[in-house]
Amino acid sequence: MPCFAQVGNRGAGLTRLDVFIDRMVSQRVCLDYAIQATADMPGPVYELGLGNGRTYHHLRSYVSARDIYVFERAVASHPDSTPPKEMTILGDVRETLPTTLQRFGATARLIHADLGGHNLSRNDAFARVISPLIEPMLALGGLMVSSDGMYFDALTELALPPGAVPGRCFMYRRDRWQLRWLTSIRSDSYGCASPEMRRVRAAGAGVKQQI
Ligand SMILES: C[S@@+](CC[C@H](N)C(=O)[O-])C[C@H]1O[C@@H](n2cnc3c(N)ncnc32)[C@H](O)[C@@H]1O
Repeated sequence: MPCFAQVGNRGAGLTRLDVFIDRMVSQRVCLDYAIQATADMPGPVYELGLGNGRTYHHLRSYVSARDIYVFERAVASHPDSTPPKEMTILGDVRETLPTTLQRFGATARLIHADLGGHNLSRNDAFARVISPLIEPMLALGGLMVSSDGMYFDALTELALPPGAVPGRCFMYRRDRWQLRWLTSIRSDSYGCASPEMRRVRAAGAGVKQQI
């Protein structure tokens, strides 16, 4: 049995329960911060990894479900936290992220990724694979919240808001464009973009002018 003195200073080390709680608390604090900071931005929100749907349920309490696209390879969420079919992008994110980038361009105002499992080195390897797929999807000023550290070229890693535990969640923001993406963003801005993408882009005209 842990004594109170041990529990007060977390004893000899963190238990799995401590780590889990820190992760959940940090996830909520970072999501709340990111939801508020991007509330006035146009563009969609991406939830990468539906799982049970807890974080989707949280997002949906503050953001219209019509704005949240959920990426998942196999939906098995709580019935209360299951996104509508038309907002679910089924499949492996290594395939669905690039096709969604073609569909919507660099318009996402908030991307939340919680794709990992218990194997930390596997999570880290996967974060390396998907970082370059996620990075071009974020709009200028958009935020990315992740349970794993990501490997971005041009996004700024942010200090976590008060209450979040460093290392248990990560936050990034697009403060500038990367030169190599400008050509592709501009070349399909008009004409060949889908109606949805044109709608999002029209809403984000102010952002586009900053490019
Ligand atoms: C930790 S759970 C997400 C938990 C969720 N945030 C919640 O609050 O309930 C991770 C989810 O990511 C999904 N996932 C993992 N790798 C994926 C991939 N390559 N493509 C699509 N989905 C993936 C898994 O199927 C799983 O449902």
